[in-house]
Amino acid sequence: MNITTADRDIECILYTEEEIKKRVSELGEELYDLYKDSVPVMACVLKGASVFYADLVRAYKGHMLFDFIGVSSYGSGTTSSGRINFKKDFDNDIKGKDVIIVEDIVDTGLTLKYLKELLKTREVKSVQTIALLNKYECHTEDLDTDMYGFRIENRFVVGYGLDYAGYYRNLPYIGVLKKEVYS
Ligand code: PRP
Repeated sequence: MNITTADRDIECILYTEEEIKKRVSELGEELYDLYKDSVPVMACVLKGASVFYADLVRAYKGHMLFDFIGVSSYGSGTTSSGRINFKKDFDNDIKGKDVIIVEDIVDTGLTLKYLKELLKTREVKSVQTIALLNKYECHTEDLDTDMYGFRIENRFVVGYGLDYAGYYRNLPYIGVLKKEVYS
């Protein structure tokens, strides 16, 4: 492997490109089993979920509609600010539709809870959430993540869309960031 500048800041790799690809392909098939009689709106939560989303939609065999919603709560730190900044709404009219919210990670669960509450006001037919990573030890919100790719412990991870201060999203794997980078 060619060691890049970004790779040098990684303590260890949690999931390789190959492991992610295999799991995303399984998730695409599971989703298709649930929605083959429908045309769901799959909503990517910008920006972190964008890489996962791009692979997931290509692992999904049925008709679906693209959508992108913008929310953020982390700013440039490693912990949630506790406040959701709503930046971009759905493009589709989602009333009466099956909506799948696609997240990269559920950490405190605040973002997902916020989005589920928002969708309650939109008269959708159903809501499903799917997150690649579930940081199960960190949830402060009472929530159900309907589907997820991997359960991970409480470590600060980057890559495959996940960032620290905007960096590392382009790493093709998911890795633990060295503490010295952010402390
Ligand atoms: C991250 C991540 C999730 C959210 C999860 O987004 O992409 O949307 O935080 O954390 P929570 O469960 O504690 O709410 P972030 O605010 O960093 O924005 P980004 O996706 O643009 O990086």
